[in-house]
Amino acid sequence: MVILDSDHSKEHVLQEMDMYGPLVCVGCYMVVQDTHLNGYPVHVAFSPGPGKQGPMEAVHEFLARNSDFVVDRDREKYGLTFNPNGWLEARPLKETLCVSRIKAWDAVIIAVVCLFAGAGSMLWFVTRTFFTNRCASATGNSVVSASRTSPMPSTASITTSGGSKRWRTRWLGTETMQTPLDLWVVQEILHETRPDVLMETGTRLGGGAAYYASIMDLLRHGRILTVDIENLPGKPEHSRIEYFTGSSTDPAIVGAMKAKVKVASG
Ligand SMILES: C[S@@+](CC[C@H](N)C(=O)[O-])C[C@H]1O[C@@H](n2cnc3c(N)ncnc32)[C@H](O)[C@@H]1O
Repeated sequence: MVILDSDHSKEHVLQEMDMYGPLVCVGCYMVVQDTHLNGYPVHVAFSPGPGKQGPMEAVHEFLARNSDFVVDRDREKYGLTFNPNGWLEARPLKETLCVSRIKAWDAVIIAVVCLFAGAGSMLWFVTRTFFTNRCASATGNSVVSASRTSPMPSTASITTSGGSKRWRTRWLGTETMQTPLDLWVVQEILHETRPDVLMETGTRLGGGAAYYASIMDLLRHGRILTVDIENLPGKPEHSRIEYFTGSSTDPAIVGAMKAKVKVASG
C-alpha cells in the first residue's frame, strides 16, 4: 500500500505516482492525499501555490495514461474525505488477460448470462428508485447518492479556515494532518488487503504512521516505511515504523525504500 502525502504540487504528486505506483500489488491501494485542495472543493486559496495545480490534477493526468488503477469512490464515506478521487485501487490484470482467451461457446454463455443479469439489474433499479422516491417524499428529504462514475463528490463543508484546533487530529497524542474518517477508511483497507508494507510520503510528526502501526499491531502484520524531506523531532518510536529523510522522489531514497520492501516481503 502507498499513501502519498508530501509536496502537494501536481508535478511532484505525478512523479510520486509514477515512482511508487508500480510497487502496489493488484487489489491494493495507492492513496493520493489532499485532492480536495485547489477548488475540489476547498477554496483555491488553499492551492499548492499561486496558480499552481495540485493532487487532483495529478490524478487526472495519471489515470489518463494508466489503465492499471481505478478510482474507488466507495472509499469516500458519506462524501466526506480529503481525498476525493484519491483512493486508487490497482486493477486486476486478469480481466484483460481473460478476454483474449474467450472461445466462441464461452462468448455465447457470457452473452446469455449478461442478458439475464441486465434484466435483473434493471428490475432491481426500477424497484429501488420507486421505493426510494416514496421514502424521500414521505420524509421530505432528498436523497444524495455517490457513485463511482459521478465526477465530483458532494463533499460537505470542509473548511480549513481559522483553524488551529480543527487541524489537531491526534492519534494517541501525536498529531496527524488527516481527517478521522479517512483514517478509518485506511483501517478498512489495511484489514481487507493486509499489505506487507505501507509506504508513506510526508511523515511530518509521524501521527499517520503511528496510527497505521497501531492498526498493524492489531492485525499482527505489516511494516511502515515513511519519508519526509524534513526530519522533525519527537516522532514516535515503533518497531513497525522506519523513518527515511530526503525527498520522496529522490531515486536514492526510493531505491533504499524499495530494498526494504523486498526484505519485508521475503
Ligand atoms: C501534509 S504533511 C504530512 C502529514 C502526515 N502524513 C500526517 O499523517 O500527519 C506534508 C509533509 O510533506 C513533507 N514534504 C514536503 N515536500 C516533500 C518532499 N519532496 N519529499 C518528502 N516529504 C516532503 C513536509 O515536510 C511535510 O512534513
